[in-house]
Amino acid sequence: MDFQTKTLSLVAAASEKTDALVVLITEGAKPGKDVLSKLAGEAIAAGDFDPKAGKLLSLYKPAGVSARRVLLAGAGDGSAKAVRAAVASAVGMLKSQPVRKLVVLFAGPPSDAAIQASVVAAAESSYAYTTTKSKAEGRKITTVTLGVPDAAKVRAQVARAAGTVAGIEFAKEWGNRPPNHATPTLLGEAARSLARKGGIQCEVLGPKEVARLGMGSFMAVAQGSEEPLRFIVLKYNGAARSVTPVVLVGKGITFDTGGISIKPAGEMDEMKFDMCGAASVLGVFRALADIQPAVNVVGIIPACENMPDGRSLKPGDVVTSMSGQTIEVLNTDAEGRLILCDALTYAERFKPAAVVDIATLTGACVIALGGVRSGLFASDDKLAADLQSAGDRAQDLCWRMPLDDDYAEGLKTNFADVANVAGRAGGAITAAKFLQRFAGSFAWAHLDIAGTAWKSGGAKGSTGRPVPLLLEYLLARQPAPAAKAARKAR
Ligand code: BES
Ligand code: MN
Ligand code: ZN
Repeated sequence: MDFQTKTLSLVAAASEKTDALVVLITEGAKPGKDVLSKLAGEAIAAGDFDPKAGKLLSLYKPAGVSARRVLLAGAGDGSAKAVRAAVASAVGMLKSQPVRKLVVLFAGPPSDAAIQASVVAAAESSYAYTTTKSKAEGRKITTVTLGVPDAAKVRAQVARAAGTVAGIEFAKEWGNRPPNHATPTLLGEAARSLARKGGIQCEVLGPKEVARLGMGSFMAVAQGSEEPLRFIVLKYNGAARSVTPVVLVGKGITFDTGGISIKPAGEMDEMKFDMCGAASVLGVFRALADIQPAVNVVGIIPACENMPDGRSLKPGDVVTSMSGQTIEVLNTDAEGRLILCDALTYAERFKPAAVVDIATLTGACVIALGGVRSGLFASDDKLAADLQSAGDRAQDLCWRMPLDDDYAEGLKTNFADVANVAGRAGGAITAAKFLQRFAGSFAWAHLDIAGTAWKSGGAKGSTGRPVPLLLEYLLARQPAPAAKAARKAR
């Protein structure tokens, strides 16, 4: 999908040739004398149109307007959230019509957040998965032009938003792929494909190298599968070498049967989404390649299947993690933490400014927070606040959960340093407490995206979350524009 910008007033927009013109109307906007303002004003006065966020009035060949289809789209108070709702319903309506190009018109100068919201919403509402369909229809809408009072002023923000969309869609693509089309090997190749783009390096380790590193916990999960594991390391260097990186660790279970502690059959297909943490890391790197921000980022993805087999890990087995800590595996379905713990130990070598792991870790987190907010756990208050506010700005919400040491009581065992599960109570928190043991020496946060990474039912599919949150967090770490310009001048 292509995003463009154009300087357009309401007057000029009336004679703009496009398949569809979406006019964002905020509450209390004063109607001008131009055709479009008059149409909106009359429709509101007659009670036929309500400028509440997400409300639509569809017009066909209105007099004095060049576009055949005109949609008045209520943008409420003009906030990013309202703009998102407006563009989502407009594009949701237009996507089934023979519309290739559309213009989204902002009557006044939009905020950066409103630009981002409109671009992300347009992509979101027109997205179509095609990879494993024989008669791929794909998305019909190819070009969205943002009409604004001054195109030059928003160009950089539109480019950034378009990069974010590329990242979200890369994450969705890999999340949505069936498990036989998204094996650990294929994830490794997807990561490598990113390294052909600007500033990204990629290294993919296999079973031998992982054994040499001593990742006994990760290897134990992988040992029940015919598919060889992959340990993927991505690096993006947009800032000076001396700038310490943020490390992102993504859970890459390409299919989670539960292993010997096997899951019930119902909806087990959805466990193909158990690599959405990994997909979000890939998505972030896809976006970094486009946006080229002045930050350093490392991405780490432990990828394998969790399968039952004659060689599988068994309940009661004790494994030795890369950190040296021994783990009693009481439930083979609590496998995410077993692969993440070794990745967290590995992260230490980058002397990171912060480590954020992203994982579809617990059903308990779905019960706690549903599909609205991801669970946020952090050992560091500043990191927690930065991630939470990045999520707010990007409309990709999370909510901080507690990490009191008392929650770790249930992880005690007589047979190893730690058990991989505690009781049912507080399951999202006890999982985080397990991970925390392996995140000793750096600021660490954990995002449990089990409820937010995909949707079930008729709209089944990956959401691409939390790519927007992570990008917002990373881009905010760039030096202020003034400092950047001064550096360039030197
Ligand atoms: N991948 C699942 C978590 C999950 C389950 C996410 C359902 C979304 C929906 C994870 O590996 C898992 O199976 N966790 C167990 C942990 C339990 C055995 C302590 C769970 O949540 O049931
Ligand atoms: Mn599991
Ligand atoms: Zn899992």
